[in-house]
Amino acid sequence: MTKDVKEKKHYIAFILGRDPLLAVAELQSQINVGRISGKIVEFNENVALVETTQKVFFLKKTLNYFGGIPKIGKIIGAVSTVDEVPNTFSSFLYDEVFKKLPSVFHYSISSYGLPLSTAIPTVNMTKDAIELQFKELKVKGEFHPPQRETYSDLVLEQPPKDIIRYKMNKTRTDFIIANVGKKIHLGYTLAVYSPKKHQFRDLKRPVKDYSINISIRMAQILINLCQVREGETLLDPFCGVGTILQEALRRKIHVIGSDIDPEIIKAAKKNIRFYRRIYQLPQKKVKSSLYTIDAQKLSKHFKKNSIDGIVTEPYLGPLLKDYPSKHKAYAIIDELTPLYEQFFKEAHRLLRPNKRMVIILPYFKTRKKDKIQLPLENFVKNTTFQISDPLKEAGFQTSCIPYDYSSPTSKIGREIYIFVKKR
Ligand SMILES: C[S@@+](CC[C@H](N)C(=O)[O-])C[C@H]1O[C@@H](n2cnc3c(N)ncnc32)[C@H](O)[C@@H]1O
Repeated sequence: MTKDVKEKKHYIAFILGRDPLLAVAELQSQINVGRISGKIVEFNENVALVETTQKVFFLKKTLNYFGGIPKIGKIIGAVSTVDEVPNTFSSFLYDEVFKKLPSVFHYSISSYGLPLSTAIPTVNMTKDAIELQFKELKVKGEFHPPQRETYSDLVLEQPPKDIIRYKMNKTRTDFIIANVGKKIHLGYTLAVYSPKKHQFRDLKRPVKDYSINISIRMAQILINLCQVREGETLLDPFCGVGTILQEALRRKIHVIGSDIDPEIIKAAKKNIRFYRRIYQLPQKKVKSSLYTIDAQKLSKHFKKNSIDGIVTEPYLGPLLKDYPSKHKAYAIIDELTPLYEQFFKEAHRLLRPNKRMVIILPYFKTRKKDKIQLPLENFVKNTTFQISDPLKEAGFQTSCIPYDYSSPTSKIGREIYIFVKKR
């Protein structure tokens, strides 16, 4: 294994995906467990800038495990105004990384955090300045125009497919313009998230049940927020077909899954076997066990203080075709309350002190747009559970927990909570 030798202090831009705040929380959680060494110096809804001494080689690898971060880039300079961007970029071509330029160089330019009306002319002028420099260097520059993806009001520019299909190396790159904090940071892409790898894991697994599944992307985010480390044990007591368990296993976290439905446990076992095979994860390297258990009776089966993290999306109530009336919403809450109340007690018993439970809690939106919530205070009463917010704990003003990630049209709202079991 290559040793993670430190290099001198440098800056990395983590480009934030669809749920920016959640992505920053995920990043901070990974810093907390030491998977990334460094600190977040600035962030906005597009980019988080991290100061680190960690080698780029290791940082690139972390992208395989983030759910909310589609891309990371190395920053090699910063300017105060957009006017300075083009010429500063062309001078980068003399940077160490680009020293031996090939006769044909493929590149794209992505811009984050600038309004489109500024981003487009800046990208075009940067392209012209780079082309001019290429001429002098006798290099043929092949510019690949950006491919835009719009997530709500945020415009995220991904490098075009013909650039990302190849590993970023000395013949291809995607330059980055990242407006974050008081400066415009300039650099180049180190790694881009691979939708193909996600699709492969999602579509090729033996059992898929989209009516109960959470996405692979969300499973990764929740695992990161839980701050479980390699070699520790994670429990999902409403495991369904095992999405969370699979993603944790891939990171060499021992997993325990349970569900009340024996057929679903059979399905989860098949999925786990598939993951073990494709990622070459034998039992002796990382353990998994699956049981048919009612989440209200967990402590009959597992020891007190034996679990390092609970990550789960519990039973959220019946599927709703229409927005419920207030009366119906309260009836669902009444049905769910005893299950959740007992489950919180059990989870508290099993979890080691100072460890976390990351849980999705439902709320119900009524026809008249009321928000009906579960009685959370009752669930945590008589426990030492406290809400944990990675951004607040790191000293940021912004709080991100609970995090509502439901779509505006969904009938059942979903909020991510993190609880830490205090001593
Ligand atoms: C929302 S799904 C979980 C989906 C899972 N995260 C996945 O991606 O596959 C909820 C699961 O809770 C299970 N369940 C319902 N009541 C339960 C109980 N009392 N104890 C344990 N599991 C229960 C259901 O069988 C279902 O598989």
